[in-house]
Amino acid sequence: MEPVTGINVSRRRFLRSVGVSGGAGALFATMGALGLAPVAAAPAPPFRPPALSDFTLTGRAAKRVVVLGGGITGLACAYELGKAGYDCTILEARAAAGGRNLTVRNGTSETDLDGHTQRAGFAAGTYFNPGPARIAQWMVTLDYCRELGVPVEVFANQNADALVYNEAAGRTPIRYRTAKADVYGYIAELLAKATDQGALDARLTAVDKERILAFLEGFGQIGGRADGWAYRGGDHRGFASFPGAGNDAGTPLAEPSSLADVFASDVGRYVSFEFGYDQAMLMFQPVGGMDRIPAALSRAVGPGRIRLDAEVVSVTDQPGGVDVVYRQNGRTRSITGDFCVAALPPHLMARIPHNLGADVTAALNSFPVVAAGKIGLEYRSRWWEQDLRIYGGITETDLDIAHIWYPSHDFHARRGLIVGYYNVGDGARAYGEMTPPQRLERALEQGAKIHGDKYVAELAGSFSVAWERMRYLEGAWTAPPWGSAAYDLLLRPAGKVYFAGDWLSREVAWQHGAFLSARSVVSALHQRVVSR
Ligand code: FAD
Ligand code: PHE
Repeated sequence: MEPVTGINVSRRRFLRSVGVSGGAGALFATMGALGLAPVAAAPAPPFRPPALSDFTLTGRAAKRVVVLGGGITGLACAYELGKAGYDCTILEARAAAGGRNLTVRNGTSETDLDGHTQRAGFAAGTYFNPGPARIAQWMVTLDYCRELGVPVEVFANQNADALVYNEAAGRTPIRYRTAKADVYGYIAELLAKATDQGALDARLTAVDKERILAFLEGFGQIGGRADGWAYRGGDHRGFASFPGAGNDAGTPLAEPSSLADVFASDVGRYVSFEFGYDQAMLMFQPVGGMDRIPAALSRAVGPGRIRLDAEVVSVTDQPGGVDVVYRQNGRTRSITGDFCVAALPPHLMARIPHNLGADVTAALNSFPVVAAGKIGLEYRSRWWEQDLRIYGGITETDLDIAHIWYPSHDFHARRGLIVGYYNVGDGARAYGEMTPPQRLERALEQGAKIHGDKYVAELAGSFSVAWERMRYLEGAWTAPPWGSAAYDLLLRPAGKVYFAGDWLSREVAWQHGAFLSARSVVSALHQRVVSR
């Protein structure tokens, strides 16, 4: 039992009091400061949503805000401002809110900038997330899922049973665990040899060396000192047939390739992905499709506040308010707000006539746009589970499809949807320039190199998205000019117009960045209103 000393009692009392007033997060952080628990990493800067009570006794009232764009950022702005009674109207050019947070289901139809129309003919229950698909645990996106009642489930971002296929190194896919075992094994062997031979003596004490050697033996499954620390393979690599009953010790895989061949095959280049602070397991996804997030936000904002098919065509900051002209159903309409939040991609906002200044336009144009694309391949059987025993995760390739994603949900169901490519940059532009049937043909041809005939024979439907060809989006994300005067300019309002989006965050290409940017603008705008 813990000794009850004076200091322990008072510490406990102190911790209890922080817990009461500051919530579990504050309690945990305080425990960290006292050396009692690891310090909780703050997922986001503190944010206090505007509240109706902020106006009590001030004689001031919530204002009208026109929000341009109904993606995650625009929806989050209207949602948070709405908590204090702001009269928000979202103008969204597309037929549905959500922006890049798009989920394709049976019947989803999309006509791209080239005039190619696709209509998803999926089974009920099949869905495809062509944009956002994964959420790290520390991301504020999960807080919104909790707050809005959007159920989440684990997204398998890494799977030892998925494959690595490097065409440049031969045409045999290997399991991800085998690739990792060989790379770690040989690295461990080299490091152990160098350590034991004294090459690192200037850096390591004798005790350090023994500890490191003990670690490396397990980490790389290498032989001991008597064996010269050699890596010869082991069960980290997996088996040709797994151990069984009685005396069935399983059939090992063939011997690992030589050290030179393992590194020549470059199978190790995928290993660092799972170390990414934003990509490490566990990752999450909303149950039923990523668009459950904008759907829940839209409900919370109130559908009456969201004007769809409403394309903003001009923004004018006047002394009495911000006038926004938009086109809806062939008609030109206008709306005036006390404030405006422009939550559009920067390159699209730059094209909209406004009176915010040439420096604003130049700044908006200083965000290079990144291309990305995905294809969803619906299959009538889940052959990757039945035949290959791959339950979620990613197969890594050196082909132009880059990755193949297996679904992390509805295991053992009849059907399922694989992401047949997810490429970024030049590879994405190359696929984007093809017609949807050409993209499909290419994706099947490439994927069949790994998965064989079933990859074609079992196909039931497909849908591809080239983000740079998508109407009103024209890009996957941007490469913000962080540290530039242009970037900093857009962090400040231009008169009564604020800018927001993942492109104004350090977490670009994540909804987390979109939510944080929205929070930051909401706080700044509200502060201005209550303090004037
Ligand atoms: P957008 O979604 O771009 O919203 C802008 C809105 O403005 C759109 O709805 C658009 O239709 C509208 N609009 C444009 N022009 C006009 C106009 N003239 N008038 C009115 N409206 C207009 N995030 C994650 O969290 N996890 C992931 O795994 C992830 N993966 C991604 C993968 C891909 C391929 C892509 C493309 C994105 C990914 N993201 C991911 C990032 C995430 O999608 C974005 O950060 C987020 O959705 C951005 O929201 P937003 O509202 O700032 O921008
Ligand atoms: N957030 C996107 C995704 O996870 C884009 C991205 C890819 C961001 C890789 C960082 C690293 O697919």
